[in-house]
Amino acid sequence: MFGTPFAAKVAEQKTILEDALQPTAASRDLGLAIDLGSGSGFQTFALSEIGYSPVLAVDSSEALLKELQAHQGSRPVQTICGDLSKLNGFVSPATAQVIVCMGDTITHLSNEGAVEELLRSVADTLIPGGTFVISYRDLSVEVTGLDRFIPVYADEGKVMTCFLEFDRPDTVLVHDLLYNREGQQWRLEKSNYRKLRLPVDWLEDAMVRVGFKVHRGQAGRLLRLVGHKPQAR
Ligand SMILES: C[S@@+](CC[C@H](N)C(=O)[O-])C[C@H]1O[C@@H](n2cnc3c(N)ncnc32)[C@H](O)[C@@H]1O
Repeated sequence: MFGTPFAAKVAEQKTILEDALQPTAASRDLGLAIDLGSGSGFQTFALSEIGYSPVLAVDSSEALLKELQAHQGSRPVQTICGDLSKLNGFVSPATAQVIVCMGDTITHLSNEGAVEELLRSVADTLIPGGTFVISYRDLSVEVTGLDRFIPVYADEGKVMTCFLEFDRPDTVLVHDLLYNREGQQWRLEKSNYRKLRLPVDWLEDAMVRVGFKVHRGQAGRLLRLVGHKPQAR
């Protein structure tokens, strides 16, 4: 559904992460990395290729983690099927070199309070000098008219369109319309879910409040925020 082969998506995320993390050429085993909302693992495998080991992939979708495991081979990747907000429950404090929450995963949390709580857990879980990378879409500015219809994917057997309904100030209702070809017929699958409208200035301030030094950039069409946890004194 991404319109790009798996390996090309991993390579794209590797470029984004190398730029964000600036690993030194001499580094070999870069230590523990955690991918929050890993989905099928584009960032998980990018982190593994950069040299992080092990990489912990956390997602609430068993189906997506199965897809990730199908690509895993002998890579030092571990999966946890669970709620990423419970990070403190499955990783010890001050153990991770890098934590990422990418591909618009952070907007799946229920409200700004949940985002602030996650930021605190992430700051606790990183070692001093560790890095947190977010990539997401800032939907705080309302999109109107035909711009609310977003073509996501199309091939000879599937067509997916997304419709954004800006019905609340804090969230947007995302409607996914997926047409699947079945012989001569097209079958429509409809679903919807809410995403948070997180202004980038608010998110950056929230990261600063828990102690990160933050740099903004782009991750393809998404915004990228890189938070550095200060070294211990
Ligand atoms: C938009 S996808 C991004 C996946 C992947 N990072 C990527 O870039 O392709 C969001 C992912 O977060 C997962 N997710 C959403 N809320 C979650 C939660 N509370 N705990 C764990 N995973 C969650 C979903 O199952 C989904 O795989």
